Amino acid sequence: MKRIVILISGRGSNMETMLKTRLPAEIAAVISNEADARGLTTAQDQGIATAVVPHRAFADRAVFDAALAAEMDRYTPDLIVLAGFMRVLTEGFVARYAGRMINIHPSLLPSFPGLHTHRRALEAGVRVHGCTVHFVTPGLDSGPIIVQAAVPVLAGDTEDSLAARVLREEHRIYPQAVRWICAGRVKLGANGTVTITDAVTPSAALIAPALDT
Ligand code: GRF
Repeated sequence: MKRIVILISGRGSNMETMLKTRLPAEIAAVISNEADARGLTTAQDQGIATAVVPHRAFADRAVFDAALAAEMDRYTPDLIVLAGFMRVLTEGFVARYAGRMINIHPSLLPSFPGLHTHRRALEAGVRVHGCTVHFVTPGLDSGPIIVQAAVPVLAGDTEDSLAARVLREEHRIYPQAVRWICAGRVKLGANGTVTITDAVTPSAALIAPALDT
């Protein structure tokens, strides 16, 4: 069974979904850079080992990343799942876990990398928004894409209503991506594209607003 370490910084709802969906994997630990991350309590309540590596206690990113890697490696993870982990990671750290570290980002990448994705989607006036699970590479939110979910942007949407619609889909696609990886169905090609064995491609388009019938 694959061993997973989940990194969080806050609420931890994606992490909680991983715990609830009974993955064919062992969640070995949940680690946060913030001592008061709400998700730590959730994990502890479920009997999962937790640790805090407080980034403010370290002189720079490289020293923090080294301490984080040391803590993670205690659990000998096969897969690192970033779930709302709000630190930019150094190239050395990313290289150490190349091909076995994934992230979820609340936009349809490559649109809106970085922060405040829902606000920026509303400002841009896009009609379709969503979320992306991808492998982590040194560039911010730019690694090979594993799976995406698209949602419509509705008239009258606020940042919060749009975020909630996207988050529902995050909770569906992130555990699915982990299942595919655990089943050995995700192949990361040398050209940086991802193939998923036996994945079904949907035939329906999401058109927003809908066409007249
Ligand atoms: C999610 O929207 C995720 O896509 C982004 O940060 C948020 C974390 O939410 N990276 P949670 O902590 O999983 O509830």
